[in-house]
Parts: sequence; structure tokens; C-alpha cells
Amino acid sequence: MTELATENPEEEQAGKPTSVSRITLSHIMTAVDTNLLGTVHGGVIMKLVDDAAGAVAGRHSGGPAVTASMDEMVFLEPVRIGDLVHVRAQVNWTGRSSMEVGVRVLAERWNESSPAQQVGSAYLVFAAVDEQGKPRRVPQVVPETEQDKRRYQEAQIRRTHRLARRRAIKELRERRSAEGLDGA
Ligand SMILES: CC(C)(COP(=O)(O)OP(=O)(O)OC[C@H]1O[C@@H](n2cnc3c(N)ncnc32)[C@H](O)[C@@H]1OP(=O)(O)O)[C@@H](O)C(=O)NCCC(=O)NCCS
Repeated sequence: MTELATENPEEEQAGKPTSVSRITLSHIMTAVDTNLLGTVHGGVIMKLVDDAAGAVAGRHSGGPAVTASMDEMVFLEPVRIGDLVHVRAQVNWTGRSSMEVGVRVLAERWNESSPAQQVGSAYLVFAAVDEQGKPRRVPQVVPETEQDKRRYQEAQIRRTHRLARRRAIKELRERRSAEGLDGA
């Protein structure tokens, strides 16, 4: 684990409520966004998700933040040309220098009067960094509603699983390498 850029235990930052950094990014899909089937390309949605989550992470941490990982990107329904897509993002959980941002993607169909429909979701981990790209401490997020508290608890579960999975894979690779099973 990297030593933080502003490592000073005396310097406790004040927490920030979830609503301070929550955002919605809206975008109308056009013909340049389509895949070969004529619906919107998943990569276009992923870019919007990363943009919205990055804006939230930057706002929460008060400076630059980089994407460390993107988990569980789920596409529930196709998005079509002309749909108005809303990407809602908020900080679910904060660690020392990292933040989990939860993103929900909704589409207002251009040819229907029905309410916006959820078409996707994702969880991203961002690390706040200084000018040298070194991780720096982030303010703790303060969940405000019961839904925010549930999202915080769920994010803690995902964090525990991410760390356990990384550790298990690292140990397996080290073991196989020590046994000479994996070539250079
Ligand atoms: C993300 C990055 C800053 C981490 O730096 P590092 O030197 O490995 O530092 P650390 O191991 O201390 O990790 C910093 C934090 O990020 C978290 N983190 C790092 N890699 C992670 C991953 N793959 N998944 C989830 N969290 C991760 C760590 O758990 C740590 O969190 P904490 O401080 O809250 O405990 C560094 O790997 C990086 O710059 N990556 C490239 C980012 C980038 O360019 N993104 C755009 C993609 S095109």
C-alpha cells in the first residue's frame, strides 16, 4: 500500500455528506453512438458512466481522482438513438484515498411518454491523487438517508470481496511460480 501524499494523522478532514457530490449527467444518443445492431454501443454508455463517476469523485475529494477499477457494469435494456440518457452517480463509500462511486443509468425513450427506465448500473473505485499521481487522503463520506446507509454497507461488502479476490489470486500466482509451474 502506497504511503499517502498528505500523510498526517493530526490532519483529520471533515466528512462530506453524500448529497454534496451527487450528480446527474444527461445526454441524447445520436447515430454516431450505435453498434452494428443499430442500438447504442456499450462502450459509449461506459464512457458516460466513467465521466459521471469521475466528476463525483473529483467533487467529493476536492481535486483530481483516477479510475482504479470498474466493477459489475450491468446492461439491463438496450438504449436507442434519440433516447435521453441520465447517468446518476454518488459516492457510496470512502476509504483512505479511495472512493466507491455507484452509478445508475436511466433512459427516457424518445418515442414514448413513459417514465425514465433503468437500463444499467455500475460500481467504480476512484483513487484521489496529487499532481504527481500519488494517492492522497479523501474526506469520509457521510451517508444521509437510509438508502445511502444501505449503499455504504453494500460497498463495504464489495470492498472486502475485491481485496480477498486480489489476495487469493496473488497467492495462487506466487505458489505456482515457486513450484515452477508458470513459465516466464
Ligand atoms: C489507482 C492508483 C492511483 C493506485 O496507486 P497505488 O500506488 O497502487 O496505491 P495504493 O495501493 O495505496 O492504492 C490507493 C487506493 O486505491 C485502491 N485501489 C488500488 N487499486 C485498486 C483496484 N484495482 N481496485 C480497487 N481499489 C483499488 C487501494 O485499495 C487504496 O485504497 P485506500 O487508500 O482507500 O485503502 C494507481 O494504480 C494508478 O494511477 N492507476 C492508473 C489510474 C488511471 O490511469 N486510470 C485511468 C484508466 S485509463
